[in-house]
Amino acid sequence: MKIILWMFLFLISNLFSADFITPKEYAKMLYENPRGISCKKCHGVDGSEQILGYYLKKGVKTAYKIPSIQNISFEDFKKSLNEIKNAKSIMPNYSLTDEEIVSLYNYIKQFNKK
Ligand code: HEC
Repeated sequence: MKIILWMFLFLISNLFSADFITPKEYAKMLYENPRGISCKKCHGVDGSEQILGYYLKKGVKTAYKIPSIQNISFEDFKKSLNEIKNAKSIMPNYSLTDEEIVSLYNYIKQFNKK
């Protein structure tokens, strides 16, 4: 019985050990599921410009676009994630740490081909 308990503890401690995932995997995980609301859902797999849907603006079919976040500076990126969004914005407010923001920024930057 004791042996089983020790094996269990060993497994658990391995699961949570710091080197279990690489920084890149961590960043991907953050981008895909930060605080339960995925960036990916709105910004796509790579943070490029997305069309979320269409709506009628004075009878004209208009695309609801989400701007690309691939080419913005780190300052703007960070500012945007730290500011309280206005009521018109559909982007949620996240309480991300500076480390998480750096991680996300570097993750999106890898897709920037320019
Ligand atoms: C529900 C959809 C949605 C989700 C989820 C979302 N965003 Fe956004 N994001 C937007 C929209 C729409 C904009 C355009 C500006 C605005 O409306 O605030 C935007 C703008 C931005 C900007 C600023 C772009 C610029 O040009 O200034 C950044 C940076 C950004 N998002 C990063 C993220 C990150 C990182 C996540 C995940 C932690 C995320 N977003 C999650 C919809 C979303």
